[in-house]
Amino acid sequence: MAAPSLALLVVDDDEGVRRIFSEVVGPREGVEVLQAGSGEEALELLRRRPVDVAFVDVRMPGLGGMELLARAREGRPDLEVVIITAFATVESAVQAMKMGASDYLPKPFKLDQVALILSRLKRMKALKAENERLRRELQGRFSARNLVGDSGAMARFRGLLGRVAREECNVLLLGESGTGKELAARALHYDGPRRDGPFVCIDCTAVPPNLFESELFGHEEGAFTGARGRKAGLLEAASGGTAFLDEVAELPPALQAALLRAIEEKKVRRVGGTAPIPVDVRLVAATNRPLEDLVERGEFRRDLYYRLNVVTLRLPPLRERKEDIPLLVAHFLRRFSERGGARRVSGIRREALHLLQDYDWPGNVRELEHVLERACALGGGEILGVEDLPPEIVKGAGRGEPTLRGDGDRGHPAAAEGTSGGYGTGIGNLGDPSKHPVPEAQAVRDPGPGAAVRFEPGDGRPRPREGGRPRAGGVACIVSSGRVRHKGTGHG
Ligand SMILES: Nc1ncnc2c1ncn2[C@@H]1O[C@H](COP(=O)(O)OP(=O)(O)O)[C@@H](O)[C@H]1O
Ligand SMILES: [Mg+2]
Repeated sequence: MAAPSLALLVVDDDEGVRRIFSEVVGPREGVEVLQAGSGEEALELLRRRPVDVAFVDVRMPGLGGMELLARAREGRPDLEVVIITAFATVESAVQAMKMGASDYLPKPFKLDQVALILSRLKRMKALKAENERLRRELQGRFSARNLVGDSGAMARFRGLLGRVAREECNVLLLGESGTGKELAARALHYDGPRRDGPFVCIDCTAVPPNLFESELFGHEEGAFTGARGRKAGLLEAASGGTAFLDEVAELPPALQAALLRAIEEKKVRRVGGTAPIPVDVRLVAATNRPLEDLVERGEFRRDLYYRLNVVTLRLPPLRERKEDIPLLVAHFLRRFSERGGARRVSGIRREALHLLQDYDWPGNVRELEHVLERACALGGGEILGVEDLPPEIVKGAGRGEPTLRGDGDRGHPAAAEGTSGGYGTGIGNLGDPSKHPVPEAQAVRDPGPGAAVRFEPGDGRPRPREGGRPRAGGVACIVSSGRVRHKGTGHG
């Protein structure tokens, strides 16, 4: 992490102090120094100039240092203020820190003391910038835009998700295992107003029943055998952000009641504790079971169900949106081949893609992801073929499919080149990207029996594809043949 430069403002009615900063501290520490002779002048400067840190004298005629500290930070909570005081009593230092000063400097001071404070502030600024960068990266990774798929069903889902994210309401996500419920829950968080708060995931199938209460609500020291130290519960940890209750149907009945109480009171009590602790969470719950039926059968509390289910979003199973498969395949192949160590895989043969589209995917997107990960890890060629797919997928082949070719068209990607005449853009054009810069999203009409889908690693930003319609989903490139496309189940 390179040390960032700082802009410093020194505020003191003593010209000597101001000169030490501008003539000695500034050049020595490599910081830009602005000066103000009074609190009023300082406020005026702060309005006009970007300042990272202000060194402020406590005693000045007019607006004093403490008052300036309070006023200056009103609109600029990130401004670091160091109080300079000739009366370095413990009380005044404590008072300054309480008011939000980041440090204090007793007068007379040594240059080393200033240097120490500045190096700490530089480190803090670098950490903040790093933190900000990581947060943006997380937001980018988990935004609804990254839910891949251009079927009507998926586009509708993404649209709804974006709208619901902006509200603070609780959301229930329904869908079979592997359809993307957790991904959607993260998108709700990172696309919503709580994106800067924590996202805490509570997998209700993973918590042993006897520990549930303490996991959710926390515990005090010695609350039960084995409770070492005090611990905040997951709801408390999620305060200010989102708590994701995964597989919520598995929540034991006693906990359902306790959770309902916590939601209604917006407070939790740690196990073994008495004081209620305020919590402010948005709840997103998910289940692959028909929760409404469980409510009818008395297996899930109706009142809790209504609390969780302010909005219900249903993720369609993959078999109902098979037209998303080529995009998902490109998405995962790109991810796996960008991962260090894995061999580079740059496409998939059309027969193999047909098989993937023919299969019913009981494990949904997760299963597809695993199949491709395995194929990338174990397969031999740069283009995935039928032989890289597991038997359960190959077995189901043959319903009205074009006859699979034998080994003849396997091997080098160039084997796929130009085998059928008359098509404008063949896969061969994609063969050497250095010679033929390939737009990241490019539709290719049937390139012949060789390869169907190719992708190029990219930055993942959505690009318009040929023909103009923008493709959502953040996928670098998919090349799909018309024959592949029409096989979708026709959503949208
Ligand atoms: N639309 C999608 N686009 C990209 N990846 C997806 C999509 N849906 C699911 N996945 C991936 O599939 C896997 C399973 O998704 P997950 O959200 O854990 O499903 P669920 O919680 O419904 O079981 C994850 O690795 C997830 O990133
Ligand atoms: Mg899940």
